[in-house]
Amino acid sequence: MKNELLTELRRIVGDDWVVSDATLIESYLVDVTALPVRPTPGNDVVVVKPANPEEISAILRLANENLIPVVPRGGGTGCVGAAVPTRGGIVLSLERLDRILEVDRDNLMVVGEGGATLEKMLKEVEAADLLFPPHPGDEGAQLGGLVACNAGGTRAVKYGVVRQYVKGLEVVLPTGEIVTMGGKLLKNNTGLDLMHLMIDSEGSLGIITKVTFRLYPRFGATATIIISFEDRHAAIKAVPKILQTGVIPLALEYVERDVIEISAKHLGMHWPAAKGNAHLITIITGSSEDDVYQQTSDVLKVCESLGVVDTVMAETREEQADILKIRSELYPVLKPQVSDVLDMAIPPAQIAVFLDMVDEIARKYDTRIITYGHAGDGNLHPHLPMELFERGQLDEVKKEVYSAAAELGGVITAEHGVGKIRLKEVPLCIDAKSIELMRGIKRLFDPNDILNPGTAIP
Ligand code: LAC
Ligand code: ZN
Repeated sequence: MKNELLTELRRIVGDDWVVSDATLIESYLVDVTALPVRPTPGNDVVVVKPANPEEISAILRLANENLIPVVPRGGGTGCVGAAVPTRGGIVLSLERLDRILEVDRDNLMVVGEGGATLEKMLKEVEAADLLFPPHPGDEGAQLGGLVACNAGGTRAVKYGVVRQYVKGLEVVLPTGEIVTMGGKLLKNNTGLDLMHLMIDSEGSLGIITKVTFRLYPRFGATATIIISFEDRHAAIKAVPKILQTGVIPLALEYVERDVIEISAKHLGMHWPAAKGNAHLITIITGSSEDDVYQQTSDVLKVCESLGVVDTVMAETREEQADILKIRSELYPVLKPQVSDVLDMAIPPAQIAVFLDMVDEIARKYDTRIITYGHAGDGNLHPHLPMELFERGQLDEVKKEVYSAAAELGGVITAEHGVGKIRLKEVPLCIDAKSIELMRGIKRLFDPNDILNPGTAIP
């Protein structure tokens, strides 16, 4: 980058907050995308750490005038390369905008800066005896990133994904203006909803500097039950039956025992369900222990006729947290053996068909495609093994898995996003006119294509 630009950046944020030394910026050039598909960072990257929206505005104006790419950086917990600066330029880290500004008990809202971590927010929300229901696995994620990626996770069945909680945003646009969208409002029909355009824009339309999330009162009681079946078909068949009881679990996850045991072992923990290979992790929440007990017995009653081989109930906070921990760590634990983790959404009743299609593809390529996921949401994560990459078959197999999902009316990503690594597959499930409209929106927000170019929009 030209010296005049570096001087100008230092003038905006102060000398200490412009970093270009290769050893100091290494961790800003990657995210948690599996190695074989992770994009290669560009040369000539400078990391800039502004303190407030005004500094971010000045940086974006400078970048826009000089046509310098800017990649916003949150917790770096994404797995589709959205935060990787492939073209060089500026990585704009939100890490100094890290305050939780307010937990508003009367309005049931929390307001925090874009760079505050989920962990920090959860602590403050819980201290106020309130609840933020979604739980994407990694609490190092930052509030702006949660919104920019519309994070999902294990607890979306009952309460939905992050989008449902965003009520207000402060955003710095690529052209430098600071705008406010929404507020502490539960209903808002004033004008076109630009706030919802920002959600899931993966840092390509604006930089989120402040977020207002809706909160709920804490659950009165929770239970986590592992419902075990001999085989996958029995387990998956139980999913719609459970949902038809009228009990909506907080989470309804599908895992295979031999896979989840790898995660448990790696963490030095113990997976408490020893029978059957197909497990449904079911979290039930309610207003009281009695309420949870009643819902649990409704669920178990319907499962009895569906071939359950065992149920393990965790009631203490610790036991429940351990189960969630073992589940949440699955991807990081498996990652070294994985060449890409996919993220399809399928109409929920079709997931058994989809899993069979994936098995068929695996057989054809003489491999195993480990698949687990958020069964209650119809969101599955097929893990394409490293050997497919080594054999040069990764793209071919991926295309077959994507096509299987599209054939069932599914989409190529449910919660991870398009990022930089799934752009070319978007047309498999989105028509040409819709893509043209998306490109038009991008041009309107970012006429010079400086903000996270080559991300989210094909
Ligand atoms: C999970 C990540 C891969 O569900 O989305 O563990
Ligand atoms: Zn997931």
